[in-house]
Amino acid sequence: MNSSDRFVIKGGRRLMGEVEISGAKNAVVAILPAVLLCDEPCVIENVPDISDVVISLQILEELGAIVEKLGPHTYRIDATGIKSTCVPYESARRMRASYYFMGALLGRFSKARVSMPGGCPLGARPIDQHLKAFQKLGAQCKLEQGMVDLSANPLKGNQIFFDVVTVGATVNAILAAVKAEGLTVIGNAAKEPHIVDLASFLNSMGADIIGAGTDTIKIRGVKYLHGTDYPIIPDQIEAGTYMVAAAATGGNVLVKNVTVRHLNSIISVMEKIGVQIEADEEHDQVRVFTDGPLIKTNVKTRPHPGFPTDMQPQISTLLCLAEGTSMVKEDVSEQRFQYVDELRRMGADIQVDGKVAVIEGTGRLTGAPVKACDLRAGAALMIAGLAASGVTYVEDIFHVERGYSDMVGKLRALGAEIVKETHPDEAEPLLQENAG
Ligand code: EPZ
Repeated sequence: MNSSDRFVIKGGRRLMGEVEISGAKNAVVAILPAVLLCDEPCVIENVPDISDVVISLQILEELGAIVEKLGPHTYRIDATGIKSTCVPYESARRMRASYYFMGALLGRFSKARVSMPGGCPLGARPIDQHLKAFQKLGAQCKLEQGMVDLSANPLKGNQIFFDVVTVGATVNAILAAVKAEGLTVIGNAAKEPHIVDLASFLNSMGADIIGAGTDTIKIRGVKYLHGTDYPIIPDQIEAGTYMVAAAATGGNVLVKNVTVRHLNSIISVMEKIGVQIEADEEHDQVRVFTDGPLIKTNVKTRPHPGFPTDMQPQISTLLCLAEGTSMVKEDVSEQRFQYVDELRRMGADIQVDGKVAVIEGTGRLTGAPVKACDLRAGAALMIAGLAASGVTYVEDIFHVERGYSDMVGKLRALGAEIVKETHPDEAEPLLQENAG
């Protein structure tokens, strides 16, 4: 992961063919810390090859877990011998999801000392609801020198009601409650597919969690969690990203290894924009193509099952290619329009006022040097580069590599002209000759 790395994309090629979706980033970054709760070794399958996984596995090893790679996407993890309950700043600051080690370590040892999180610069991103959940379960929380110090004697089940729907705090509440004495009821819980996947993983080890995927989750504490062999769900945001890329380039792509029902809100919005989508639930795949102009559309992001905030930059990019005025309202994350300045460099006509972006679709974009400011913004700029005329240079791609495995390989297999440059003078001749 080199900060001078960049993607070089020669746009204008229709994406054609098939793409396999990998395991879900937001599920695996919750499930890997959850392994700490297991009283036996366990095996995790369909693990995506992304830097957030590398960091999570490094933190597990720093805590004393034994991590064995059994295959390209399969790991055996033995956390039974762990003694440390501290995740230091230099590890935790590298990704936001490091805060899940708070709930996991507290849930196993009744204490934890974890640095405040890093991750995407999406506004304030407070953790007040996480701390509220821990305190409701009987933990004392102290914040000092950027570290969160948690201790309980011991954790006891309780009622937790979140003031806002929060994925992260719902995950942390589950991790802390799964071995706490008695019953915990989480109200106003997040319903994302990765919440359900975490609960399914824990239940496969003998936990007692019901209601995941609804706004009320009930957890009866258990003493022992046995080993398991668990496959991570497919990444619905990665799938949505390739679906939008297919539509933005006027291509025809079969997106394979998806959970179709996790894509309902994405499919619904894309069909409103005039994209053709053939969903094949039996074979876990969707075919995406266009057979006419893209249609201006208004979109609002919502907690699941609404249209996901993690798809907002990508769909806004697609709307730049639809004739007419579209509006995108970001109702979940704060400050999630920072990529708009970069899209403007490519000819986009977007005005942002607080939570609303007004997009004057011009039907075309032109290549330019741009910079990824966060994971999904980077994905959106990749899509813009694929659809644009000319060459686009996307800098700071470490953001993209946090959540998308082998994006260059997958896009090249679909016919895209894209290379990853580590040093600008190493650009492949193909692009240098044809750049323009
Ligand atoms: C998770 O972030 C995801 N990250 C994000 O995905 C995703 O955008 C977000 O959920 C919403 O779906 C992971 O799962 C690792 P939240 P998280 O807690 O947990 C407020 C990506 O692109 N809030 O659901 O940080 C918060 O300010 C990443 O894959 C509080 O007020 O999101 C926000 O406005 C980016 N207090 C809203 O809730 C809290 O204690 C939703 O945040 C916690 C959150």
